[in-house]
Amino acid sequence: MSKSSRRKFLLTSSGAMAGSFLSSGLLKADTLTQEKAEALENFSQSGLVTGQKKPMKYDSIPGFLSAEQIAPHFNAHYGGALRGYLAADDKLQSSIINNQPLDSSAFGATQRARTTKSNSVVLHELYFEGMGTNPCNLESEVRNAIEKRFGTLDKWAVDFAACAKASSGWALLAFHPVNGKLYNVISDAHATGVNWMATPLVVIDMYEHAYYVDYKNKKTDYIEKFIQHIDCQVVNERYKLI
Ligand SMILES: [Fe+2]
Repeated sequence: MSKSSRRKFLLTSSGAMAGSFLSSGLLKADTLTQEKAEALENFSQSGLVTGQKKPMKYDSIPGFLSAEQIAPHFNAHYGGALRGYLAADDKLQSSIINNQPLDSSAFGATQRARTTKSNSVVLHELYFEGMGTNPCNLESEVRNAIEKRFGTLDKWAVDFAACAKASSGWALLAFHPVNGKLYNVISDAHATGVNWMATPLVVIDMYEHAYYVDYKNKKTDYIEKFIQHIDCQVVNERYKLI
């Protein structure tokens, strides 16, 4: 890295460049459109920011997911991921600040755990927030983008369902800013299948813990119900971030 590049990196990563980061990790509102600022505000309640589980907007989704299905998923799996992230992050940060390096084995394992658990936290929050009972009303900009890439919304849904069925972890619709394309993506684990820089718009949890109480081994039924219960207003909001 050249001297000027290194200085630029240090300025950026320290937040000195335009004072561009708040303590919560959110970009300053004056560098964004109002719409983006409002969409990002939702992140301030993330467990990665507060250290607490992000409040749920429902206990059950009638006709789709029961409280008996959602509660252990939210508390044990999402909550467990958050606890794992906090422990790994604290361990790594403490080792740096206290100048007590971990041995190479523990360092690698803790680094990987932090990434895996933080991804799990974010994906669970995107999943729980992205479902609801309101009629789907995609804004024209989002609908046009999906139709441009997949032909029709139905064709998108067929491909998304195929990804979900083939996945043993997660499936996502994501927007990639490098080429401006939408992708349906299979992610078999929290830290695999990642398209760096891509923004998730729709996220489905395909671990058995997400559906087995209500659907047993009827994976396809769960996927079909999920697609019927996508909260399109949330998708509209996420699209404003891209
Ligand atoms: Fe899950």
